[in-house]
Amino acid sequence: MSSGSVPVITLDGPSGSGKGTVGQLLAQRLGWHFLDSGALYRAVALAVDRAGCTPQDAAGLGQIARGLVVQFLAQAQAPVRVLVDGEDVSDAIREEKISRLASQVAVLPEVRQALLDKQHALCQPPGLVADGRDMGTVVFPEATLKIFMTATPETRAERRHKQLKDKGLDVNLARLAEEIRARDARDAERGASPLKPADDAHVIDTSCLTVAQVVDRILDLLRDRRLGQGRPEG
Ligand code: DC
Repeated sequence: MSSGSVPVITLDGPSGSGKGTVGQLLAQRLGWHFLDSGALYRAVALAVDRAGCTPQDAAGLGQIARGLVVQFLAQAQAPVRVLVDGEDVSDAIREEKISRLASQVAVLPEVRQALLDKQHALCQPPGLVADGRDMGTVVFPEATLKIFMTATPETRAERRHKQLKDKGLDVNLARLAEEIRARDARDAERGASPLKPADDAHVIDTSCLTVAQVVDRILDLLRDRRLGQGRPEG
């Protein structure tokens, strides 16, 4: 499916690369919609956990995914809230247990297929910033601008550690780094929509960049693209 006349910026990359923060800021600056596709996989994981299903029941999980009604509520200066069937699950879907389960349900083609229509439906005027793993490769292959964001596993573990610490949670840094490596490997090695840059994606390593620098770089690329001068880098 093409994104048609609606402009789309895809932001793909591993967790902790800064996609979520950058994507929400970018959507605010442009006045566009924001799709956090990871939240959709997390919402499926939460529903699966609550239903007591095993991650191996592919058909059952596909059915759960198809039945979910997910809404994103944008808020000024605060992270987007995620509602599932009207319930605010923004915090519940970020728990470590659900993060692990999300990465397991995301390997199932049945789940990925069920979430495709929900992602396409969010592509509305005046534009969409789509954050995930396969936004530029599978979900919006005709996007206006494709970005692949990376950062070293150590940087990503430190960012996650800080986030959790700010929430009053004391988590072991080395264990976090280990979990990040395991999740990366599962996301990159799976058969269905593995994590990889689209051929025409611009690769940005955010390890030594601030959020504002990344947003400005993407806005520059968008300007170039609209002037017809965009060239994939990296
Ligand atoms: O970005 P995140 O950490 O919230 O994503 C949660 C999980 O969902 C993660 O294991 C990767 C997976 N995911 C995916 O497979 N495809 C996407 N488009 C987005 C996330």
